[in-house]
Amino acid sequence: MKTIIALVIFAFSFGAQAVEGSHPLQKADVDVFDLESVRRGAGYFVDYCMGCHSIKHLRYSRLGRDLEIKDEVLRKDIMPEGAKVHESLLTAMNPEDAIKWFGVAPPDLSLVARAHGADWLYSYLKGFYVDQSPTRPTGVNNLYFKDVAMPNVFWDLQGLQKPVLATHGGSQVIDHLEKVTQGKMTDKEFDQTMVDLVAFLVYAAEPAQFARLTLGKYVIFVLLVLAIILFKLKKEYWKDIK
Ligand code: HEC
Repeated sequence: MKTIIALVIFAFSFGAQAVEGSHPLQKADVDVFDLESVRRGAGYFVDYCMGCHSIKHLRYSRLGRDLEIKDEVLRKDIMPEGAKVHESLLTAMNPEDAIKWFGVAPPDLSLVARAHGADWLYSYLKGFYVDQSPTRPTGVNNLYFKDVAMPNVFWDLQGLQKPVLATHGGSQVIDHLEKVTQGKMTDKEFDQTMVDLVAFLVYAAEPAQFARLTLGKYVIFVLLVLAIILFKLKKEYWKDIK
């Protein structure tokens, strides 16, 4: 089963790279063990993404435990009204409505960081640009996901971007994006917001990595103690032989 999942994820990321390869990815400076950053990211996810997307593999209780968020804070700042602590991060959007509105249901994002990688997510979230062609109902397109059905949820924070074209091999292609309006955030603030959000998605794709880190520290401690004991024992044994 695991092999099948791994293969699917592998095929998926390969497919994605093949299509997205034309624009270099921006490097996401993500630190998944920076709890502050991941906590902020969780807040952004609930505020900006959960209207459409779920993370069905993650429960609020687990999130609170892993990110060391107190119950009252979890309830007040993270969980939407009416959600229960043992529930997963589920969107309230009904898939049929979603298909009606976007033509496709927004995918569950539990494993999206494993499928695409942090750099791709970061680039994608920053890669929306104005596209007023009649085929684009959302009025935007994305440099890393051509003709994406998702609207640009951060247009007011980031500001609008337009494509700057260049001619390559006789055809016009997008060279890079250029800001045309100033968002509510500075570029630096916006980048940090996206880093936090991606850090959260990376955590969500593998919450066990936190437990592993603690276990790893414990294992190293035990090995150290063992090494000291063995060293003393060795000295003890060799004392009489020498
Ligand atoms: C208004 C609804 C809506 C909101 C809000 C929204 N999305 Fe989406 N998102 C979509 C839809 C619809 C798709 C499917 C796009 C497609 O297949 O063309 C999508 C696709 C994606 C994908 C691509 C997934 C894949 O595997 O290809 C990612 C990543 C993503 N969204 C992340 C986010 C994040 C992070 C947020 C919050 C900042 C967010 N979305 C907010 C509707 C939304």
